[in-house]
Amino acid sequence: MKDSSSVAQLAAILRKELDRYSEGEKLPSSRALVTRHQVSPVTVSRAIASLAAEGLVTSRPGAGVFKAAPRRAASALGDVSWQEVALSADPPYATADTGPRSADASGLLATLTAPPPEVIDLNGGYLHAALQPERALAAALARAGRRPGTWSRPPVEGLTELREWFARDIGGPRGPLGASDVLITAGGQSALTTALRALAAPGSAVLVESPTYPGTLAVARAAGLRPVPVPVDADGVRTDLLTEAFHATRARVFVCQPLFHNPTGAVLSPQRRTAVLDIARAAGAFVVEDDFARRLMHADSPPLPAPLAADDLDGVVVHVRSLTKASSPSLRIGALTGRGPALERLRAIQAVDSFFVPRPLQETALELVGSPAWTRHLRTLADALRDRRTTLLAALGSTLPGLLPHRPPHGGYHLWLRLPDGTDERAVAATALRHGVAVTPGGPYFPAEATAPHLRLTYVSTPGTAQLEEGVRRLRQAVEESVPEPYERA
Ligand SMILES: Cc1ncc(COP(=O)(O)O)c(C=O)c1O
Repeated sequence: MKDSSSVAQLAAILRKELDRYSEGEKLPSSRALVTRHQVSPVTVSRAIASLAAEGLVTSRPGAGVFKAAPRRAASALGDVSWQEVALSADPPYATADTGPRSADASGLLATLTAPPPEVIDLNGGYLHAALQPERALAAALARAGRRPGTWSRPPVEGLTELREWFARDIGGPRGPLGASDVLITAGGQSALTTALRALAAPGSAVLVESPTYPGTLAVARAAGLRPVPVPVDADGVRTDLLTEAFHATRARVFVCQPLFHNPTGAVLSPQRRTAVLDIARAAGAFVVEDDFARRLMHADSPPLPAPLAADDLDGVVVHVRSLTKASSPSLRIGALTGRGPALERLRAIQAVDSFFVPRPLQETALELVGSPAWTRHLRTLADALRDRRTTLLAALGSTLPGLLPHRPPHGGYHLWLRLPDGTDERAVAATALRHGVAVTPGGPYFPAEATAPHLRLTYVSTPGTAQLEEGVRRLRQAVEESVPEPYERA
C-alpha cells in the first residue's frame, strides 16, 4: 500500500471488517495491523483515528481499540421541532421591517464546500495548495513555535509588531494609521462581523454593493441588519445612487470593495474614490472598506490605487484586510482599522465575541510577512494569477466566446460571466457539476433581485492551468444543454 492514499484505504478495509465484530470486541493490535496490511505504524494510527472520529471505534490507552456501541437510531432521538418556534419567536430586535434575524450561510457555504475529487473546482475562493507558500508557511510556523511566549495570552488587540506591520501595509509608511488604530482579527470574515455589529444598530439599513460577496450579506443579516443594494458598474459603485441610498435609508454604514471587487472584478475609479468618501462624510456614515484582494494583483496589473483608508483623515473608513487570500485559508489572520470612538466600539465587540486571536497564529503571520520568502511568494503568485486568468480567458474565448467578460480584471481570482437573458443559472451550475466542473451561480451575490443571470468562475482552486481548460470544455457541454437559443458559439 502506498502511504499517501493508504490511510483512507486501510480505514475503508477496517470499516468493512467491523461489520463482523460485536460491540466492545477488541480489534487486532497496531503491530498486527502493520504486518497484515503492510503499512507504517503512522498509517495505522491515522486510520484508527479516522474511525474513532466517525464513532465506529473507541481507543483505550494501554488496552487497545474496540468496536464502539452503535449510534442511537434517529427515530430513538427526541423531537426537536420546538426549536423552530424558539429560534423565530420574537427575538428582542425583530421589527416589522426585518423580521427575526436570519443566519443563512448557504451563499457562503457554496464556495467553502470542496467538490468531489473528480470534479474540477472553478468555484473555490482560496489558493490551491500548489499556489500556497507551503514551505514558507511551514518555516514560519516552526520559528513561531520557538518564540518565547508564543503560548501566552496576547494583548486583546493583537501583537503590537503585527499591528504595526498592518498599519504600514494599509496606510503606507507616512500614512494616517499607527499600530494603535489596528485590531488583529481572525481573517476578513471575522473583521466584517465585528465591523457591522459595532457600527450599525440591529434593525437598521446597511448599504452594500450589488452584486457583492455573499459573506457580507450573511454577516449583515445575522446581525439583524437590512442590506440595501447600491449597483456596481465597470468603475465600481454607482456614486450617484449611493447619495440617493443614504437619503432613502438613513444608513450609517456602507460596505465597499474598491479593489478587484468580488464578484465583478471592478476597481473603483479615481473620481468615484473621492466621491465615496465625500458622500459618506456628508451622510455622517462609515465606509467599511473590504480590501480582500490587495495582494492578489496580477503581474500585468497597472499600479494599484492606495486603500481608501490611506486618504482618510476623519475616521470615516474602517478598513478590513486579511492574509488568507494570498497565503492559506487557514492562516486566519486579518486586520480591522478604525479611529476615534469607532475603534473603541470595534475593540469592545471583538473582545466580547472572541477575546483575541490565538497567539501562535499571530506569531506565525509575523514570521511569514517579515521573511524574504513572503515578497518572493507574492511575485510568484502575481505571475501565476496572470497566467491562469489568461488561460481561462483564452479557453472561454475559443469555447464559449459569448460569455467573455468585457473588461478582464488585473487582480483577484475570478471572472464574472453574464449569461443570456432567461437562462436558469442554477440549472447551468447543476448541469456543469454533473459534467464534472463546479461553478458558482450568481444569484446569492445580489442583495435583492438579481439584475441578470450570471456565473462566477474562479481560477485559483485547481492544481494548474490544464484543469482550467478542461473545466471550460465541461462547462460548454452544460451551457449547450441549459442555455436557451440564440447563443453565440465558437
Ligand atoms: C470579498 C471578500 N471579503 C472577505 C472575505 C473573507 O475572507 P477571509 O475571512 O478568509 O479573510 C472573502 C472570502 O471569500 C471575500 O471574498
